[in-house]
Amino acid sequence: MDLFEKIAANRGPLGTHSAYAHGYFAFPKLEGEIKPRMIFRGKEVLTWSLNNYLGLANHPEVRRADAEAAAEFGMALPMGARMMSGNSNLHEQLENELADFVAKPDCMLLNFGYQGVVSIIDAMVGRHDVIVYDAESHACIIDGVRLHAGKRFVYVHNDMAGLEKQLERAQRIIDETGGGILVITEGVFGMSGNQGDLRGVLKLKEKFQFRLFVDDAHGFGTMGATGAGTGEEQGVQDGIDLYFSTFAKSMASIGAFVAGPENVIEYLRYNMRSQIFAKSLPMPLVVGGLKRLELLRTKPELKDNLWTIVRALQSGLREKGFNLGTTSSPVTPVMLAGQIGDAVQITFDLRENYGIFCSIVVYPVVPKDVIMLRLIPTAVHTLDDVEQTIKAFEIVQDKLAKGLYSKTEAPVWLTE
Ligand SMILES: Cc1ncc(COP(=O)(O)O)c(C=O)c1O
Repeated sequence: MDLFEKIAANRGPLGTHSAYAHGYFAFPKLEGEIKPRMIFRGKEVLTWSLNNYLGLANHPEVRRADAEAAAEFGMALPMGARMMSGNSNLHEQLENELADFVAKPDCMLLNFGYQGVVSIIDAMVGRHDVIVYDAESHACIIDGVRLHAGKRFVYVHNDMAGLEKQLERAQRIIDETGGGILVITEGVFGMSGNQGDLRGVLKLKEKFQFRLFVDDAHGFGTMGATGAGTGEEQGVQDGIDLYFSTFAKSMASIGAFVAGPENVIEYLRYNMRSQIFAKSLPMPLVVGGLKRLELLRTKPELKDNLWTIVRALQSGLREKGFNLGTTSSPVTPVMLAGQIGDAVQITFDLRENYGIFCSIVVYPVVPKDVIMLRLIPTAVHTLDDVEQTIKAFEIVQDKLAKGLYSKTEAPVWLTE
């Protein structure tokens, strides 16, 4: 079969919906400055879907640092991969400062979080080694595991008895192969908002020998007394062998890092294919990263503001009877009982009639009869924003319970 014909017949699980979803449910354009109120299709909306946790995206000092670095260095410098011709003192300075902040001996910058995680996993394990990972892991972990030539075992999300069973199986295999075990989980899970049970995982080190790799994309900057992440929050930062976070969330930028023991980071520098064979992070992103980290470290009010909004939003929704699942982080999922058709109508109603823009998650990410509205509070939201949102959610919940959405015609543009 011709590959292009095959693609025309099967657009993929998400692409199947592109004809009506594009520009509204998928690839929407939020315009204007990054802040809670932005423009969607010409109208102002209150936005709850940006991972700009600390509000750094538009912080005046950040904007100035980014602009000045772009003017001074341009977007190209340094040219080439870090290993070949793309290293700089500023890259190394940011690595040192990140390592200090997350209390690890060494750190390595990554161009992107997704590719970084895939490549870290690829570099860490060979065919004699075994990976054991949480079932709700982010796609980048899943894809890293897919590259692995050896055995892999998955455990039910945060089920420590399940993890122990899988470690027993892993142990039997490495007894034969002479390999090692890598356990992978997340600090904060981005959909449910619950934390990986890092303490529980580490307790199993008493019985098994393994190394723990934690993707803390949503925990860095938001969790722990200093914002150093979920390990700090749970008092087990020392036990995390390899700590990863992206710059795409609290740092409001692009790039990522991995931190751990000097010899392991040195090994990764010389063995991570996504970094060795890719151009170095441009200087403005590095200088901008230094400024963001400085603010994250020196302005605890950013995290305090975030948590004021998180607490108001989560307790306000819970008081009104909404089910927020098991979140223990800023990520705020609101679970409603309904079908995909209802979800389409709710999204439309919230955006067009109540000016609320949030992400909607449906099957297969959540069970078939569940609709998840996912809210990401930030340090720059206000308590008025919270109040407006809770009011709108109550109205929407009421309409859903009365079955009004299933009786509503699809918006005209959906059927055009
Ligand atoms: C848990 C997790 N890991 C990794 C990534 C990928 O990071 P990046 O956007 O830097 O590629 C994301 C999303 O951004 C994420 O949520």
